[in-house]
Amino acid sequence: MSIRFDGRVALVTGAGSGLGKAHALMLAARGAKVVVNDLGGTVSGEGRSTSAADQVVTQIRSSGGEALANYDSVAEPAGARAMVAAAVEKFSRLDILVNNAGILRDKTFAKMEVADFRAVLEVHLMGSVLCTQAAWPIMKEHNYGRIVMTSSGAGLYGNFGQSNYGAAKMALVGLINVLKLEGARNGILINCVAPIAATRMTEALMPKHSLPHLKSEWVSAAVAYLASEACQVSGHVISAGAGYFARAQMMEAEGVWLDPHSPADPDAVAAAYDRISDLSNATAFGSAPEYIDKVLKRFATTATDA
Ligand code: NAI
Repeated sequence: MSIRFDGRVALVTGAGSGLGKAHALMLAARGAKVVVNDLGGTVSGEGRSTSAADQVVTQIRSSGGEALANYDSVAEPAGARAMVAAAVEKFSRLDILVNNAGILRDKTFAKMEVADFRAVLEVHLMGSVLCTQAAWPIMKEHNYGRIVMTSSGAGLYGNFGQSNYGAAKMALVGLINVLKLEGARNGILINCVAPIAATRMTEALMPKHSLPHLKSEWVSAAVAYLASEACQVSGHVISAGAGYFARAQMMEAEGVWLDPHSPADPDAVAAAYDRISDLSNATAFGSAPEYIDKVLKRFATTATDA
């Protein structure tokens, strides 16, 4: 099997450097026409420049591919609409959206300015929401779409000093959990990567000896798969980096049943806490109704349900 994107059009946000650049190059090398979005700011989201996106477009074109630069911010509704419109205007369709643009404003929670919390949410969460919402009607019309969001171990598992970033990155998992249900009818599949790669955002934090292994291309391989027709899953989160690929999933313990007819008793919860938190027989749910059903099916249907 060879994954190709001939005839497909992709929009990759934040594609002027790091991971986004590698994603754009890989999609283009396999036949996609790519809109390379990047506002060309610093890691903390200051400033703007057209050169980052332009360089990637030049690189794609010089290898015989087709690409278009866009310099809008994903965090602005008009910007998100404009980059999607640019894809449709230039290439007549949009099949693939990779929500990758991101910034960092790290500080401990005690010292975190609300403005820095909001700025990070605006780019990672709202940027992904706005671009996805702009792309949605087009994908719906064609009954085809592949959307890849960019989460992070900082959100999935926590990272000191990144409350804003961790919250935004985990919010994307909540977003795909719902969009996988809403997109299914129209062939729109939505998945997430949680990357590990040495980029300008992370290089200084990674052990030096590991840097040669932490190439963005390893993450792009997962993104390209999730963006392809070969991918038939939706709602998956894939950790990817340095040749490591693994699905991450919210799990729920088997749990315990305390007597639902007697008054709620915090002492009983405390006494059962080891079993409540025991994940050894944990399971995953495909949706919230499935999860609620686990609880409610314990009770016999009564005449009032009819
Ligand atoms: P990077 O800083 O090299 O790339 C981010 C790109 O997004 C930059 O080119 C920047 O100009 C662009 N950007 C920022 N705000 C934008 C906006 N409002 N509109 C359009 N473009 C904007 O960093 P890297 O590492 O390549 O990050 C890519 C994504 O991967 C980010 O979402 C990041 O949070 C995520 N990530 C990266 C990890 C890593 O190990 N490198 C780990 C986990 C997540």
